[in-house]
Amino acid sequence: MTAIGRYQQPVRRGGLLGVHSIGEFVLTVPDVETAARFYGHFGLDTLADGNSLGLHSKADAYRWGRVVEGPRKAMQHIAFHCFEEDLGRFRRHLEHEGVPLIDPPPGFDSNGLWFRDHDGMLIEIRVGPKTSPDRKVPMAVQSTPAGQRNAPYRRLSDRVPPRRLSHILRFTPDIDRAVAFYSRILGLRLSDRSADAIAFLHGVHGSDHHLVAFAKSNAPGLHHLSWDVPAIEDIGLGAMAMADKGYMKGWGFGRHVLGSNYFHYVQDPWGSFSEYSCDIDYVPNTMDWEGVNHPMEDGFYLWGPNLPPDFVHNYEAEGGSPT
Ligand SMILES: [Fe+2]
Repeated sequence: MTAIGRYQQPVRRGGLLGVHSIGEFVLTVPDVETAARFYGHFGLDTLADGNSLGLHSKADAYRWGRVVEGPRKAMQHIAFHCFEEDLGRFRRHLEHEGVPLIDPPPGFDSNGLWFRDHDGMLIEIRVGPKTSPDRKVPMAVQSTPAGQRNAPYRRLSDRVPPRRLSHILRFTPDIDRAVAFYSRILGLRLSDRSADAIAFLHGVHGSDHHLVAFAKSNAPGLHHLSWDVPAIEDIGLGAMAMADKGYMKGWGFGRHVLGSNYFHYVQDPWGSFSEYSCDIDYVPNTMDWEGVNHPMEDGFYLWGPNLPPDFVHNYEAEGGSPT
C-alpha cells in the first residue's frame, strides 16, 4: 500500500473521475469458523471483529475483507476507495446517471455512497487509502551464484503470505452490462475481454491489469478472490501449504494470457476460489491501455494443467457447494 513506511502521496490521473482501489469486500458464509480455517491456512490473519471475521494481510494488518454469517456463501458488498476530492463528484455523478443512493446495511454505517450495481449487488464508494499499487513491483527471483545451494529444506522454507488483494472476479449474466456499469458509474476501464465470456477492468489512477473482472454465468456469484504474492516460489509454497491442510482441489500452477500473471487457485469450502497470483500486468496512470477483444482460445491461459471440470461452475447460483 502506498502509505506503508515513509508516506508518499498516491498518484492520480488528473481530471478523470474513477475509483482507485478495492477497499474491502464482505462475504456471507453459513459457517464463519470454516472461513477462518480456510483463510488462515491460505496466509491471512483472521481476527474477530464484533460479529464478523476480519481478513488481514500479515505484513501491514490491512483488513481486505470481512466474513459474516449468512444463509449461504455470497458476496454481500464491495467497498471501492476514491480520493477525498472525488467523493462529492461521485455523489453528483451517481445522481446525474440516475443511480439511486441507498442506506448501508445494518452494522456497516459509513459516510460512503451506497448503491446497487447492474446485478443488484451492493456497492459502496468511500474515501480511503489507495490500496492498488502506484507502480509495478518486479517479481522477486532468488537465484544463487554457481557453487552454492539455493533451495532450503522444505521444513525451513519461509513462504511469504499474500501481500494484498489484487482483484475480484465475479459471475454475471451479462458481460456487456457489467462492463458498461463499472465503466460509466465507477470510472473503471476495459483492460481485455474475450467475446461475451470474460472481461477485465482496471483503475484509471494506476492499478493492476484488473481490479474487477466478470465471467459469464446464468446468475451473479463470486468466482475468485486473487491475492498477490511476491514470487513464483510463494505460489508454490502456498499451494503446498494448502494441500497439506487438505485443500487439494484447485487449478494451477499456470500462467494466464490476459493479465499475464502466474497463478494457483485453491478451491474454497463453497466452490469458489482464492488465487495466489504473481507478476500481474500493470496499467500506469499515465497511459490509455487499449482494451482488446481476444479470441477465447488464445486468451485464457498460456500454460498449465487441464481445467478442473467445475472451474467455472457457479455453485452460488444453486445455493450449494461442491460437497
Ligand atoms: Fe485472477
